[in-house]
Amino acid sequence: MEQAAPRMMTPRSRLLLLFLAAAAASGGVLQVRAQPDNNGFISINCGLSGTANYVENSTKLSTSPDTIFLDDEDAGSTHNISAEYVLPTLGKRYYTVRSFPDGKRNCYTLRSLVAGLKYLVRALFKYGNYDGQHRLPIMFDLYVGVNFWTIVNITDADAPVILEAIVVVPDDFVQVCLVNTGSGTPFISGLDLRPLKSTLYPQANATQGLRLATRRNFGSDDTTVAVRYPDDPHDRLWFPLVDGRIWNEISTSKTVHNIENDLFEAPSKVMQTAITPRDTSQNIEFVWDPEPQPKDPTPMYMAILHFCEVELLPTNAVREMSVILNRVPWFQFGFSPQYLLTGAAYNVIPVRGFGRYHVSINATKNSTLPPLVNAVEVFSIISTANVGTESQDVSAILGIKETYRVKKNWMGDPCGPKTLAWDQLTCSYAVSSPPRITGLDMSFSGLKGNISSSFSNLKFIKSVDLTDNQLSGSIPPGLVKRIQDGSLDLRFGNNPNLCTDADSCPTQTMEGKRSKSKLAIFIVLPITLVVVIVSVAVLVFCLPRWKNKQGSTRNSVKPQNDQTPSSLQLLENHRFSYGELEAITNSIQTVLGRGGFGCVYHGIMNDGTQVAVKLRSESSNQGVKEFLAEAQILARIHHNSLVPMIGYCIDGEYMALVYEYMPQGNLEEHIGGNGGNRKYLTWRQRLRIAVKSAQGLEYLHTGCNPPLIHRDVKGTNILLNKDLEAKISDFGLSKAFDRKRDHVSTNILVGTPGYLDPEYQATMQLTTKSDVYSFGVVLLELVTGRPAIIRDPEPTTIIQWTRQHLEQGNIEGVVDTHMCGSYNINGIWKVVEIAFKCTAHTSAQGPTMTKVVAQLQECLELEDLTGADTKFVFETSSSHYPNPRYNAYDADGHSITMGQSSFSFDEMEHGNGRVATVDSGPIAR
Ligand SMILES: *[C@@H]1O[C@H](CO)[C@@H](O)[C@H](O)[C@H]1NC(C)=O
Ligand SMILES: *[C@@H]1O[C@H](CO)[C@@H](O)[C@H](O)[C@H]1NC(C)=O
Ligand SMILES: *[C@@H]1O[C@H](CO)[C@@H](O)[C@H](O)[C@H]1NC(C)=O
Ligand SMILES: *[C@@H]1O[C@H](CO)[C@@H](O)[C@H](O)[C@H]1NC(C)=O
Ligand SMILES: *[C@@H]1O[C@H](CO)[C@@H](O)[C@H](O)[C@H]1NC(C)=O
Ligand SMILES: *[C@@H]1O[C@H](CO)[C@@H](O)[C@H](O)[C@H]1NC(C)=O
Ligand SMILES: *[C@@H]1O[C@H](CO)[C@@H](O)[C@H](O)[C@H]1NC(C)=O
Repeated sequence: MEQAAPRMMTPRSRLLLLFLAAAAASGGVLQVRAQPDNNGFISINCGLSGTANYVENSTKLSTSPDTIFLDDEDAGSTHNISAEYVLPTLGKRYYTVRSFPDGKRNCYTLRSLVAGLKYLVRALFKYGNYDGQHRLPIMFDLYVGVNFWTIVNITDADAPVILEAIVVVPDDFVQVCLVNTGSGTPFISGLDLRPLKSTLYPQANATQGLRLATRRNFGSDDTTVAVRYPDDPHDRLWFPLVDGRIWNEISTSKTVHNIENDLFEAPSKVMQTAITPRDTSQNIEFVWDPEPQPKDPTPMYMAILHFCEVELLPTNAVREMSVILNRVPWFQFGFSPQYLLTGAAYNVIPVRGFGRYHVSINATKNSTLPPLVNAVEVFSIISTANVGTESQDVSAILGIKETYRVKKNWMGDPCGPKTLAWDQLTCSYAVSSPPRITGLDMSFSGLKGNISSSFSNLKFIKSVDLTDNQLSGSIPPGLVKRIQDGSLDLRFGNNPNLCTDADSCPTQTMEGKRSKSKLAIFIVLPITLVVVIVSVAVLVFCLPRWKNKQGSTRNSVKPQNDQTPSSLQLLENHRFSYGELEAITNSIQTVLGRGGFGCVYHGIMNDGTQVAVKLRSESSNQGVKEFLAEAQILARIHHNSLVPMIGYCIDGEYMALVYEYMPQGNLEEHIGGNGGNRKYLTWRQRLRIAVKSAQGLEYLHTGCNPPLIHRDVKGTNILLNKDLEAKISDFGLSKAFDRKRDHVSTNILVGTPGYLDPEYQATMQLTTKSDVYSFGVVLLELVTGRPAIIRDPEPTTIIQWTRQHLEQGNIEGVVDTHMCGSYNINGIWKVVEIAFKCTAHTSAQGPTMTKVVAQLQECLELEDLTGADTKFVFETSSSHYPNPRYNAYDADGHSITMGQSSFSFDEMEHGNGRVATVDSGPIAR
């Protein structure tokens, strides 16, 4: 129980003040960030004035005012609750609230967490007529990060509401957001964060969290106080539940220990007390009612029953029991709690009922003693599958927010969830990757000062509108480069002080040593305010897709003769000397791979960027022509599914290309499982790789002018970045063709055996369908985990091999066993079908890459959908749970399992009036 404590300054808060003073003295803008305490706890008193922490009386936990945790320090307003609701026993945190009358979403950000770890998050609310309006009920939504947590429903001015969730936090911070749904002004009294070991509550993982319905301590002799920290090191709140009419209380004064690898670590103080039925011939029963949520009217539930024997039993006595939930027994055999050791029974697969949930703890026939139970926790399941905006985009947009002091609704995650995305932003949402910021409209926003370099850090941004502001200075080089290569539409008309003539603008500093070189750029401002920027030396080659759709006004752009190395002048800033390459690669040491061209080396640039340097060896059979072809292509085309080129080197006899480093190597290494200790790719990862690389090829075929045929599509030419995102590489053999003709005639056959389109082989006429064919082979490799040419027992192509197996109706026989059966078989069928269409005998029948992309995306969506549905499916090969629907562990850590598989959800009739309701509302303290 929290009580008012005298204001006391802890060493921590003194430090904080010193820090503030130092920041003020140096005149710098310093964002003060509160750190978790020694336990990793964060305890916040919302609406408390001042900056000083205080020590909470009963728990001795340091508690902070909320200002420094707010997304925007001016957000909301603070209030004292009405005096009539301030009771002597009321915890200090309920004295004040912060309310948020403005903005749809307001957030607190809790920092200095460890990404990927599990946390308990708790929010406290007491209305206490803080606004003097007696306005109830108040309802609003609570989000943890970008995922819906729960509805907050305040119906009683006096009763505190305590809401708790256990979630895996994907980043080193977590946001708790209050969302106004039009049913009253959101407000909050307090907020807690407690770290949990990852092994605790295994039901909470990256994609699903637990929303606490109730946590009760049975048989406690003090019925007014919840057990919490320091008795529970994890500071869960265990509220007492006693009913002397139907239950006897039993207890021990001896310490109860947790078993090894305890999944719940119920504290001794809670486990020392238990209840048994007063009528020893009876059993223990209780019920709870589901709490419908707006988007989930029948949430799924999970119950954890905590057991421990508190009496030293005579040798002939047996206490053996079983658990029955909604008439379905959890275990085939009874179990006996161990003396002074914790044990728990819980359902592994959450249950979804349509009425009241009824739990019965029955003694078995062999039992000579009545059943007992020490504590119960009930959770419903929340999805935490939504991911926040990509972190680089978040830092960039926060930089912009800070530079221009943007107010608007810029709180919480920029793009997520979709319905709460920031005004003025356009985001792209992919199925299984984080949202990206693609557009930003800041016209008429009163922006002053320079154009922030943060704009250039929005790597996926395609359009920025800065018209009608008071911006000054010049356009940052990072943006100029993107305008030049056609990947950015920047509008900046009506900024009278903005310098748009590169020649006369003072240069802004830019990362990289060659940045000082003058950019030869002319900027034209047509009356339409659509800016057209054309470099003198080079013309934009590939138009980004969105341009085509919007019908770009940039019609001054013409394709240029493909063969002249002059296009490399575009990359003049990126020309390296051999000496520089030696420095970058630490004297050409670490070999990443070998190809026809020579070796690829690992390097690190001055600014820490990792790169791959492809150095042409003198013995290379790949000529200067291929080198120049690749350099020219990469200098002009940019797409996030193509490996980006950072620069090149032509220095005496040395020729090299410098690319962005792809730490996860190439696809073939992953498929073959020979990438060292790399894990095998999951089906979902494979699908994402398929979609991404298909998009890259589609771009070559349709987004470039003239279009390009890659000519060497294969697993080793699909590289993976650290997030396993696929990028097409190796354009040495690529060929441009005339859109009017549908093919290019060639006189040398190039490509890789196993991937070569037989039609191209026969006719020597190259079309985009030749790439489609090779891509079909890659798809089959992704499904089967086998190489393009299978040598065992007889050499055969992967296409024939797959067909043969399928003719025998054996789809499972072709699927890569390393995926451990975790895929949707319909998705596999669909991908195999696409692969067969790609490798169809006549290219006229084959689909275009555009069609392939669309179909693969459908597969990915299908996979995501079924991923959600399979929560109901019987678990087969989970490593955590040995195949049960229910799982209990006793003191030995042995699992008791049963093969129960059907459920009934009938309403129970409650005989004898011995049923206690485990109400999920909190009790006042
Ligand atoms: C804080 O706790 C101490 C004993 O631990 C007690 O004497 C004191 O009255 C408490 N203060 C308040 C404000 O409750
Ligand atoms: C709340 O009450 C305290 C005194 O108990 C006072 O100092 C403070 O100004 C009040 N805050 C508001 C917002 O009224
Ligand atoms: C809010 O709580 C009241 C009282 O418990 C209940 O009647 C009402 O249905 C709840 N509303 C929602 C939306 O949960
Ligand atoms: C989380 O657990 C659920 C249910 O066991 C499972 O379906 C899901 O795949 C898990 N998610 C992760 C990321 O492990
Ligand atoms: C468990 O006990 C309750 C109440 O005594 C009884 O109604 C129910 O049938 C029992 N269930 C089993 C499976 O023994
Ligand atoms: C009851 O005890 C007997 C004798 O110890 C044993 O054979 C039997 O399996 C037990 N029954 C159950 C249901 O545990
Ligand atoms: C704006 O950029 C100019 C160079 O273009 C620089 O000299 C100046 O310091 C910058 N001003 C601010 C406030 O960053």
